[in-house]
Amino acid sequence: MSEGYGLLKGKKGIIFGALDERSIAWRIALACKREGAEFVLSNAPIALRMGALDALGEETGAPIFPCDVTSDDQIKELVEKTKEHFGGGVDFILHAIGMSPNIRKKKEYTDINYKWYQQSLDISAVSLHRILHHADEGGLLNDGGSVVALSYIGAQRIFSKYSDMNDAKALLESIARNYGSRLAKRGIRVNTVSQAPTKTSAGSGIKGFDGMYTFAEKLAPLGNPSADECADYCLTLFSDLTRKVTMQNLFHDGGFVTNGISEEMMNDLANLYSEGEE
Ligand SMILES: NC(=O)c1ccc[n+]([C@@H]2O[C@H](COP(=O)([O-])OP(=O)(O)OC[C@H]3O[C@@H](n4cnc5c(N)ncnc54)[C@H](O)[C@@H]3O)[C@@H](O)[C@H]2O)c1
Repeated sequence: MSEGYGLLKGKKGIIFGALDERSIAWRIALACKREGAEFVLSNAPIALRMGALDALGEETGAPIFPCDVTSDDQIKELVEKTKEHFGGGVDFILHAIGMSPNIRKKKEYTDINYKWYQQSLDISAVSLHRILHHADEGGLLNDGGSVVALSYIGAQRIFSKYSDMNDAKALLESIARNYGSRLAKRGIRVNTVSQAPTKTSAGSGIKGFDGMYTFAEKLAPLGNPSADECADYCLTLFSDLTRKVTMQNLFHDGGFVTNGISEEMMNDLANLYSEGEE
């Protein structure tokens, strides 16, 4: 592991959502370790049964606590176990959780299954509210702490294949703002990082993901950021260098959101058009 800057020395946290080596949360855990943080890892019991997370626990010295984030009881238990483990509260929380049964089971947005729709929202967005509520009530959040949830530009612009996750991310970002305004009195920041398409288990599970990835790669002047680059950005938000940044949705997308069209795309389109004319 390369040497860091000691940005998170003395900080303690919870990292939700590391599933396998490609997971953004996995990369963030490694980067947090590099920067001197201590943390606990959490994922749904069903994800833990796959067993991959054990390797990350061993590599980083972090305990693994199961928690399905749709369950209030399991979140409360996680809060208690984490307090016991650290003998106190945490300074940062990473929410890197997302799942849509409708996308998984290939249900079109206009023919949505409403039970699954509620599950998408519950797992991917309301869970941030639940975690903050129980962490706050259980005295787990230290003053001056920082909470980051991972989002996607589908919250602002519709990507058809992202289906009900567009709605889930819009809700997630709103919850971050709403809670951020309330926790600010204790110096606690709540932000979302809107990451570009990244080749992970959740990402690749979306039909049409390759098209979304290539489109973003071609439009973003800096190209798509990797999961490791996302990790580096999230660290700055957990660190004391960003103490007055809150209630923001921060784009980590190589400039995608602001660019209208790239030279490369313009050339591609011109070529396509001229081929059509021949
Ligand atoms: N991969 C991308 O292209 C991309 C882009 C922008 C944002 N994001 C977001 O990044 C976050 C992490 O996703 P990822 O791409 O690293 O994929 P991932 O599949 O590695 O992570 C998703 C995680 O959510 C967990 N999860 C699902 N249901 C849960 C539940 N009920 N309780 C607890 N955990 C549960 C999964 O077990 C998994 O670890 C998600 O919020 C995702 O929407 C991903």
